[in-house]
Amino acid sequence: MEKREELYAGKAKSVFKTDDPDRFVLVFRDDTSAFDGEKKEQLNRKGMVNNKFNAFIMEKLEAAGVPTHFEGLLSSTESVVKKLDMIPVECVVRNISAGSLCRRLGVEEGQELTPSTYELFLKNDALHDPMVNESLAVSFGWASAEELDRMKELTYKVNDVLKALFDEAGMLLVDYKLEFGRSNGDIVLGDEFSPDGCRIWDKETRKKMDKDRFRQGLGDVIETYEEVGRRLGIQFD
Ligand code: C5P
Repeated sequence: MEKREELYAGKAKSVFKTDDPDRFVLVFRDDTSAFDGEKKEQLNRKGMVNNKFNAFIMEKLEAAGVPTHFEGLLSSTESVVKKLDMIPVECVVRNISAGSLCRRLGVEEGQELTPSTYELFLKNDALHDPMVNESLAVSFGWASAEELDRMKELTYKVNDVLKALFDEAGMLLVDYKLEFGRSNGDIVLGDEFSPDGCRIWDKETRKKMDKDRFRQGLGDVIETYEEVGRRLGIQFD
């Protein structure tokens, strides 16, 4: 398979066409951004760490019956993925209160949420990804009711698989964001799963081990991502 021209450059990843019309190459860059691109930095090794982290998680999810776009690693910073028709809605599950939930509702960080909560956000940087709901998504044609049901079902299935995986490795999966797309009539998990798009805390100390280290200037961002990976059994270069 041959990598061709760049199709799109996001804040941390770029998408390249290939000679196969049904496959893209995702390039994980060292660029790190937060607050809708207001805070930006290059973090050495981040592209490699997130690419390998994502590959490991996508393979676990696929094995548990969650269809994903991931097909394989191409290099230490590149992966081959299926082309998806992306749905512009982000699905967020929270097991513990943190982040925008605390800001929006004035609740304290660190409360266990039983049952886990489920929220939808419109993918739109200019509008700062506003919160939406199923009714808006259907009325505006972002996704059908059936597609939204399937996205919710898969997002919770991911929670069952990953909560257990992190728990066994001494960590808490606090929350995470997923993006889905369509492929041959099926809903398929797209984008990435890495410490950039979820919150992970140490089970004992509640040390933050995800992108909040970057957002909050806590330091050792990539070293901590690597520690999360190592605890899960991921080998980095
Ligand atoms: O900011 P908020 O608390 O709503 O984020 C919930 C979860 O979704 C966090 O793990 C965050 O990293 C992730 N997220 C993301 N990309 C966004 C919004 C949220 O990865 N655009």
